[in-house]
Amino acid sequence: MAQQPQRQPQPQPNPHLPDRVAAVYGEQDLSTVPAFAGGFINFGYWARLPDLADGPLSEADRIRSEQDLYRLVLDTFGRTRGRSALEVGCGRGLGCALALREYGLAPVTGLDIHPDQIARARATHAELLAGPSTDGPADAPAPLAFVEGAAQRIPLPDASAECLYSVEAAQHFRDLPGFAREAARVLRPDGRLALTTFFARTHEAARALPGLLPPYADGLDVPHVIDDVAAALAAAGLRDVRVRAIGEAVWEPYDRYMAQRRELRDAWPRHYLTAYRTGLLDYYLVTAAAPAPVSAPGGSASTGP
Ligand SMILES: C[S@@+](CC[C@H](N)C(=O)[O-])C[C@H]1O[C@@H](n2cnc3c(N)ncnc32)[C@H](O)[C@@H]1O
Repeated sequence: MAQQPQRQPQPQPNPHLPDRVAAVYGEQDLSTVPAFAGGFINFGYWARLPDLADGPLSEADRIRSEQDLYRLVLDTFGRTRGRSALEVGCGRGLGCALALREYGLAPVTGLDIHPDQIARARATHAELLAGPSTDGPADAPAPLAFVEGAAQRIPLPDASAECLYSVEAAQHFRDLPGFAREAARVLRPDGRLALTTFFARTHEAARALPGLLPPYADGLDVPHVIDDVAAALAAAGLRDVRVRAIGEAVWEPYDRYMAQRRELRDAWPRHYLTAYRTGLLDYYLVTAAAPAPVSAPGGSASTGP
């Protein structure tokens, strides 16, 4: 009797990983595109660079701008030493390492939807992942971990993070209200959220953006409207939601850096500055506090597990 060929199990597509996001952070590895530098993938916050106005901007400046975007976010937490942190959309995990090294946040967990990004993060930070330094207690948890998962389905327990942050990832989230609910769930009652990325300024702008910027047209980015983002966070129970537009310190210097470099000048759609100047989008820093603890029957406040 002829043997039936054995059926190999097919890898299941991840329903939370859109095709374009899968390609750009998979085989294309956006962090290697020269418009980004140093392994980060964000447009950068340039206001803290000394001598920003003078002379050409170097690749070191570019890397510093990307690190400074993280610093802007992490500064919003105030006290950080020894507090637990979760980064959503961590990419190669360089911001997680910065949070650990410069801010003393610990443990820091980096979450990313893309398995390749998690693999890159683990390879980049293999030493830190191995565990606490030799002078720490043997049973102390590793200071850093990377976990594959989606912003709208965070695979972590309730009330497990004191500082939750996200840098230039939320423009990819298909389900922002879902992310907001998950952020509210995983934050401890004394926790805080800080989120930075670019959003549309109005619904009319959201309709116009795909005509100007290919990443919206090809489905990589979603033109979320900033007021909807803030409303989603508030609807999830997060308190004291504050929005700060920081585009002035992002778009012009980023475009100037691109224009100064021959290999970058025409390689990336440089319409972000136009979109900013014509009032279609801006770069935002959004902060919020964890939901108020639920009052248990009898009057005492429950703070979750
Ligand atoms: C532009 S990169 C930013 C990476 C890093 N934060 C940085 O600034 O270098 C966006 C990252 O978000 C991740 N991402 C996209 N959608 C996500 C989702 N729904 N949940 C979690 N991560 C997501 C991508 O895989 C990618 O690594």
